[in-house]
Amino acid sequence: MTSQKVLTVCLGNICRSPAAQGIIESLSAESKSVFLELDSAGTAAYHIGSPPDPRSIAVLKQVGIHIDQQKARQVSKADFDEFDWILAMDRENLANLKKIQPKHSRATLVLFGEFHPSVSFGEVVDPYYGDESGFIEMRQHLTNIAQAFVNHLTLKREDSVSR
Ligand code: 4NP
Repeated sequence: MTSQKVLTVCLGNICRSPAAQGIIESLSAESKSVFLELDSAGTAAYHIGSPPDPRSIAVLKQVGIHIDQQKARQVSKADFDEFDWILAMDRENLANLKKIQPKHSRATLVLFGEFHPSVSFGEVVDPYYGDESGFIEMRQHLTNIAQAFVNHLTLKREDSVSR
């Protein structure tokens, strides 16, 4: 079966999108019907080459997900032809991605939160300037959305197989 390529995107690529990558990877590894290849990126260049924020690493480690080997990078136009899905964490990320999206590119660009009503306005709030509780909330939101995203892909696949 072919796998699908998924890119999670936030602003700095050190808090939300590396965590989203780790959580989706973990869920897809458990799935028998959906095979995903993940990466993450930021719309900004501030943290290129850096590992995820230690607070994201810590809250993910609490649930057995290890993201410390990731390195931040900036999203590029080429990503729109490389990936099947580009998942924006908030509306500002989405707007910035739309600005560089080439016409007729391969990727489906969406607000990640739209897959689950647990986040208001479809946005995963940026926890960078807050305390640890914001990172725990981020993990919970990302987990809910990631589960709904994987369910969505599973249903799409079952639909295409039954036709
Ligand atoms: P992220 O959070 O977009 O979830 O990685 C941020 C990380 C760094 C900054 C802002 C948001 N910053 O301004 O450096």
